Amino acid sequence: MADHLRGIELCVFDAYGTLFDFNSAVARHRGAIGPNADALSEMWRSKQIQYTWLRNSMAAYAPFWQVTGEALDHSLAAQGVAATTVRDRLMGAYLALDPFPEVPAMLARLRSGGLRAAILSNGNSEMLAPMVAASGLADAFEAVLSVDEVRVFKPDPKVYRLVETHCGVPPARVCFLSSNCWDAHGAAYFGFRTVWVNRSGAPNDNLPGALAGEIRDLAGLPELIGVPG
Ligand code: LAC
Repeated sequence: MADHLRGIELCVFDAYGTLFDFNSAVARHRGAIGPNADALSEMWRSKQIQYTWLRNSMAAYAPFWQVTGEALDHSLAAQGVAATTVRDRLMGAYLALDPFPEVPAMLARLRSGGLRAAILSNGNSEMLAPMVAASGLADAFEAVLSVDEVRVFKPDPKVYRLVETHCGVPPARVCFLSSNCWDAHGAAYFGFRTVWVNRSGAPNDNLPGALAGEIRDLAGLPELIGVPG
């Protein structure tokens, strides 16, 4: 266990890319999409996140479901994929993304070790709730918090503040987990002890906020924060 990760009460997880695999939407419809499927998936995610940052800068919030659809429409056009064949199927798949394989056992171990768990996501509740329900993991989380309540996206500090408001745990006793390096830095800069789930082995981003740890996937989390095996 890392000494600087002692005394954690609550683990707060980012949703998309951290607990749930956004690539699983395109993967399910690869045949209908054709050879640009991987490029489409990458561009869809990248545009989706860019649009959230731009909307924050423009003070032009819209629910993440809308932003996700707008990012998909752009990406389908850019990749030359006919929207009529796959758009509705891809958006539908986004409501039931696969959790990463190590997630159920990791959550069960946190729970048996007495740790609390919650989700804090850009997703609006109407898209988070069906996905969490479809995964069968709903009971593992005491709260599924959405930026929709404060109408601004990550990494605005108003978003990270939702955790103390709803769960009553001060930032210093929260371990925040995100595979999105920029989200991890935003959370660390806010005051959470933050572990970056570096699934792709990427170099760190040069942003404010010191990370408390880095793991390759979530299987390493319980040991890192001292939860017995
Ligand atoms: C989320 C995005 C950033 O779930 O992955 O908030």
